[in-house]
Amino acid sequence: MDAVTSSPRIAFVTGASSGIGRAVARRLATDGHRVVAAARRVELLDELAASVDGVEPCELDVTDLDAVRAAVATTVERHGRLDVFVANAGVMPLSRLDAGLTDQWNQMIDVNVRGLLHGIAACLDPFREQGGGHFVTIASIGAHGVTPTAAVYCGTKYAAWAITEGLRLESPPEIRVTTVSPGVVESELADTITDSDARQAMSEYRRHAIPPSAIADAVAFAVSQPPEVDVNEIVVRPVRQR
Ligand SMILES: NC(=O)c1ccc[n+]([C@@H]2O[C@H](COP(=O)([O-])OP(=O)(O)OC[C@H]3O[C@@H](n4cnc5c(N)ncnc54)[C@H](OP(=O)(O)O)[C@@H]3O)[C@@H](O)[C@H]2O)c1
Repeated sequence: MDAVTSSPRIAFVTGASSGIGRAVARRLATDGHRVVAAARRVELLDELAASVDGVEPCELDVTDLDAVRAAVATTVERHGRLDVFVANAGVMPLSRLDAGLTDQWNQMIDVNVRGLLHGIAACLDPFREQGGGHFVTIASIGAHGVTPTAAVYCGTKYAAWAITEGLRLESPPEIRVTTVSPGVVESELADTITDSDARQAMSEYRRHAIPPSAIADAVAFAVSQPPEVDVNEIVVRPVRQR
């Protein structure tokens, strides 16, 4: 392992029980980093930790600010530092606005926006105190364009993009900030869609999904850069997705 570009880091990945987060946790651990893999379904995290060296499970609901702060503090206590935080946890129960599924709108705002902010709130002090760190947000191509049934989801992803860009602009040079915006990726993301029209449209839309390892590769690329290089944004989508 190249000592400059890829020295072992302490990484924290939210939403690591499935899909992209799981692939990111697996990839970073395989690259030799120590990874705290966080999510609510701890049994899936235990399975991951049992199959990949360097992964530690952490039961966490990102909508709970105190819990996110406590999980980050425990990580710093245990390992002496936290180098990389990947804010990946997200939900996507799509529907048209006129379906009026307000609980699901709020859930998307709570996880995709508040959950991200909770990660930022928890990381900034340790990053400042240790003189650096890397914050990675998993946004979406939904942060770059809106489609019917995805108004609220895209709204949360535009917000994630904007908040992460604001973090980058406000951060000192020793803090790196990256947004990774995936296109359609194989995962459980569409499973929470209860609206039948949106579900049907999504199954067609998701036909060309690429594996989550493609997004893990992008995160690993950003993380492995030398300290003076800040990869700001990567968009990764299937070649067939326009
Ligand atoms: N797949 C795609 O096509 C695609 C495209 C663009 C962007 N993205 C983004 O990629 C990220 C990962 O999604 P995915 O596709 O990998 O979907 P996924 O397989 O459904 O994974 C979502 C992850 O988020 C976690 N999560 C949900 N609510 C949470 C909460 N309250 N607290 C903590 N963790 C929570 C889930 O874990 P638990 O249920 O165990 O808590 C799960 O590990 C999301 O931000 C999504 O918006 C995905």
